[in-house]
Amino acid sequence: MPRDARYDILFEPIRIGPVTAKNRFFQVPHCNGMGHARPQGHAAMRGIKAEGGWAVVSTEEVEIHPSSDVAPYVEGRLWDDLDIPALALMTQAIHRHGALAAVELVHAGMNASNLYSREVPMAPSPIANPASYVPIQARGMGKSDIRDFRRWHRSAALRARRAGFDIVYVYAGHSLSLPMHFLQSRYNQRTDEYGGSLVNRVRLLRELIEDTKDAVGGDCAVALRFAVEEHLGTEGIQHDGEARDIVEMLAELPDLWDVNVSDWANDSKTSRFAQEGYQEDFIRFVKTVTTKPVVGVGRFTSPDTMVSQIRRGVLDFIGAARPSIADPFLPRKIEAGDADDIRECIGCNICVSGDYTMTPIRCTQNPTMGEEWRKGWHPENVPPRTGDDTFLIVGAGPTGLECARLLGRRGYTVHIAEALESLGGRVTQESALPGLAAWARVRDYRVNQLKRMHNVEILRGSRVTGNDIIEFGAKRVVLATGARWRKDGVGRANTRPITGFDMGSVLTPEDVIEGRTCKGPVVVFDDDHYYLGAVLAEKLQCAGTSTILVTPGDKVSAWTVNTLEQPAIHRRLVELGVQVILNQNVVAFDGSRVALACVYTGQESALPAASIVTVTSRLPNDALYEDLSGRPDALAAAGIVSVTSIGDCLAPGTIAAAVYAGHRYAREFALEHGDEVAFRRELPTIG
Ligand SMILES: Cc1cc2nc3c(=O)[nH]c(=O)nc-3n(C[C@H](O)[C@H](O)[C@H](O)COP(=O)(O)O)c2cc1C
Ligand code: SF4
Repeated sequence: MPRDARYDILFEPIRIGPVTAKNRFFQVPHCNGMGHARPQGHAAMRGIKAEGGWAVVSTEEVEIHPSSDVAPYVEGRLWDDLDIPALALMTQAIHRHGALAAVELVHAGMNASNLYSREVPMAPSPIANPASYVPIQARGMGKSDIRDFRRWHRSAALRARRAGFDIVYVYAGHSLSLPMHFLQSRYNQRTDEYGGSLVNRVRLLRELIEDTKDAVGGDCAVALRFAVEEHLGTEGIQHDGEARDIVEMLAELPDLWDVNVSDWANDSKTSRFAQEGYQEDFIRFVKTVTTKPVVGVGRFTSPDTMVSQIRRGVLDFIGAARPSIADPFLPRKIEAGDADDIRECIGCNICVSGDYTMTPIRCTQNPTMGEEWRKGWHPENVPPRTGDDTFLIVGAGPTGLECARLLGRRGYTVHIAEALESLGGRVTQESALPGLAAWARVRDYRVNQLKRMHNVEILRGSRVTGNDIIEFGAKRVVLATGARWRKDGVGRANTRPITGFDMGSVLTPEDVIEGRTCKGPVVVFDDDHYYLGAVLAEKLQCAGTSTILVTPGDKVSAWTVNTLEQPAIHRRLVELGVQVILNQNVVAFDGSRVALACVYTGQESALPAASIVTVTSRLPNDALYEDLSGRPDALAAAGIVSVTSIGDCLAPGTIAAAVYAGHRYAREFALEHGDEVAFRRELPTIG
């Protein structure tokens, strides 16, 4: 299909200093849990982005010196020449597809705990790292430290050029870098020419940009990533205050402005807390101050929104981290007139959890993310079918839909039977909850693809039995029947059913989602620790039921630290008037009171409650598997060669894990790994 002419503007080349980007799609820096430790995986992932049409593909934070060691987090490194080959792999992979490679040089200052290098952290003034409880403080930098830092930065820029980068970033963003700490009056309490007035606080940033231009500016563009708003009122940098003054002071100095909001949680806001384009109000002034090209972000997945950003003079480049993760081929799809095929980011931040857990990046929408090298998975090219296998998939939730999509793309004949009339399983259910509407994109993308496949049949309203499956006679049976929440309270804190949880006034999450009402006060017992407990508390409270969230965790939705949402979730509950009780286990319920036990002391107390919603753990819907696996002769007689249980019905997990399970089956069902590791590994060199 030819490209929609409305989108032509997105494909205009744009000059950035001495280099030219072939279009306006700019993959801004994003970490990925591979970094310096898994350079081949990292290079392959960035290469796919370039192949997908991004004009600029950036690294993540790249540490410039051992005193900027953010271990245990795995970012890029350019400490010395030994780090050049790993990054050269990446620039080669990017250049192969005609894109520009950008490197984000970072000195994290006090945010680098230097746990690996054991260097002493540095800051404008002596201070403890506000972002962690690591019991090490940063020392205030003397003049010679500033000279050292400038030299390290310059050397790293020279190394970056040798590694093949076309754009070199100076980074003053996210409150995670020394140049930004110098800008922030709350961290910079110096009395010399680098502290006090704004002109003084900007001095180091100006010098770094000048140094970088002087070192590599003839060949490489020099970009500045700058956070124009911290959402801290007068305590922080404000877009209509000092940020504007700073942009005015440095307006024409960098070759490109990459502007966003800080901190990282404000920048990478999830769909639960912000809509597409949420940064516009804060960044739009920048283009009125500088003539240099401006890149900005805001979970852009709609080409119409992108065009609007450019036509209205907000941005020159469409910056994207998450949209490029969910769909590395987003630009190519728009270019080819296939915008309907874009796999839109759902804004869940599972990708961020890779960084937080120091493991290769993963994505709910794009199961190939992070697997490009180690499994050889490509997001668009799939191996064609190798035999005449036919498939019956039972269950059209995220696992079943993805499995059907990929098997269908491979050319197999697929039937997918869903008990309900609606498709999507848990994502359809959960997307009806407050703030989770975008999660329906997991279903919509796949159903949209399946509708066009003549080799895939969707059977709605088909609740099948073991006998039905045997009679159907597909060669391979895939069970993707999902899971259900337990009602008995068994989870992490309680390994045995909780006394009183068999009463009618105890509800499961499904009950609440299906609209069952309950009397208040209601206790939401969250022993799951991800998003659902707090989302249900929000729903109930908003419906006028007085709600108390009780958790054995030391935080509300404790795991959402890994998706950058935890503080926002707690804040929202407090603002809605939900009472929050931490560090307490629920041990009994008598219909009018809940017995709580302190997780540290075991001391019990009573809490008045008329009903309970129990969000503890799930049970796999494995009855079909139990039935079929006990009848090998009947299966063989029907010509069924395999019955495989995948996704939540094997072991309940995240939606990302469910999609991955469906994808993996569709690629690997015929592979025999035996005892071998199922993916390639990058091993340390000995010697
Ligand atoms: C997984 C992930 C890792 C990120 N790592 C970095 C990083 O290393 N350096 C940086 O400046 N920004 C980083 N960011 C922030 C993004 O560059 C971007 O500003 C933000 O996610 C908003 O853009 P988006 O809505 O297109 O994702 C990261 C974002 C994500 C989602
Ligand atoms: S993990 Fe979620 S937020 Fe991250 S890119 Fe994928 S869909 Fe978007």
